[in-house]
Amino acid sequence: MVATQNISIHRVQESRLAEVDFANIPFGKIYTDHMFIADYRNGEWKNFRIVPYGHMPISPATPALHYGQAIFEGMKAFRGPEGEALVFRPHDNWMRMNISGERMCMPHIPEELFMDSLFALIDLDRNWIPAVDGSSLYIRPFMFSADEYIGIKASSDFTFMIILCPVGAYYSTPVKVKIETHYTRAIDGGTGYAKAGGNYGGAIYPAKLAQDKGYHQLIWTDGKNHEYIEESGTMNVMFVINDTLVTPALTDTILAGITRDSVLKLAQHWGWKVEERRISVKELIDGLEKGTVTEAFGAGTAATIAPIELIGYNDKDYYLPPVNGRKYSNHILKELDSIKRGLVPDPFNWIVKM
Ligand code: COI
Repeated sequence: MVATQNISIHRVQESRLAEVDFANIPFGKIYTDHMFIADYRNGEWKNFRIVPYGHMPISPATPALHYGQAIFEGMKAFRGPEGEALVFRPHDNWMRMNISGERMCMPHIPEELFMDSLFALIDLDRNWIPAVDGSSLYIRPFMFSADEYIGIKASSDFTFMIILCPVGAYYSTPVKVKIETHYTRAIDGGTGYAKAGGNYGGAIYPAKLAQDKGYHQLIWTDGKNHEYIEESGTMNVMFVINDTLVTPALTDTILAGITRDSVLKLAQHWGWKVEERRISVKELIDGLEKGTVTEAFGAGTAATIAPIELIGYNDKDYYLPPVNGRKYSNHILKELDSIKRGLVPDPFNWIVKM
């Protein structure tokens, strides 16, 4: 049993909070005062502790460093109208983390461990939750294998941690994406649906090639024929085609995004036409040419609802209509943000008050 009282707390002597310029927070560069750590040893989770955020010793033979046996999650906390901490859908992140863990041969994280450690850490660092619009506290739970062994085998030791960082926008401008038709992010039977570190590490090189040409990100296509749209690596992708919200159906090569799911549930709740199905590159490009694709956006925890300004394919850029006239994605962004901040009713009970 984990329970908050079993977590030892070693507080910082002096908080770094006063050093933070909350009006200009970059994504992922500033970390709060504390972090949570738990060890998995001899088949059980133990040594629950919150310590000052900082570097930590790690064996050079840690399999996570050699073989990428590491998974992570991303979620966000917001400051509510009364100053309370509101966390968006943490149970869904807990469940997804265990799906990733199973694929990567890592131990189950009990709900109590995940939630209690999250509550305790957020409680301690609650003053770090930005009050500024467009900002939030990004929560990064992660787990890695911690055996001191460089043979390949199922590890027996693991470390589970949570770190927190106040963040601003991940993409500060509308996004330019390129449809990738050479490199592959994930293949059937692979780890694409898991939030495994290697999925992201392997995507950096192809994304960098696109970034060198002025794009922000890729839209990945299926690894077999590069014929169907999958996801964008940092976010799921969604389109408005003929007044219908369309997104690729989930497969084992696509991450089941929690923002993706939230958008779909809200859209259905509002009575919008929604389709989860295969979207071919041809359908998308034809639709961009004919003007039937009127909106495109990414959906992710870090990215939130990120409007896509243009889509590159085969050395040609296809522009979408201006962002400020997009009725679907702008409505989703506003409503979802208001739910997360506790400003409007939360029809699906997504918010957990901490
Ligand atoms: C998230 O949205 O939480 C992610 O993990 C994406 C990451 C690439 C920043």
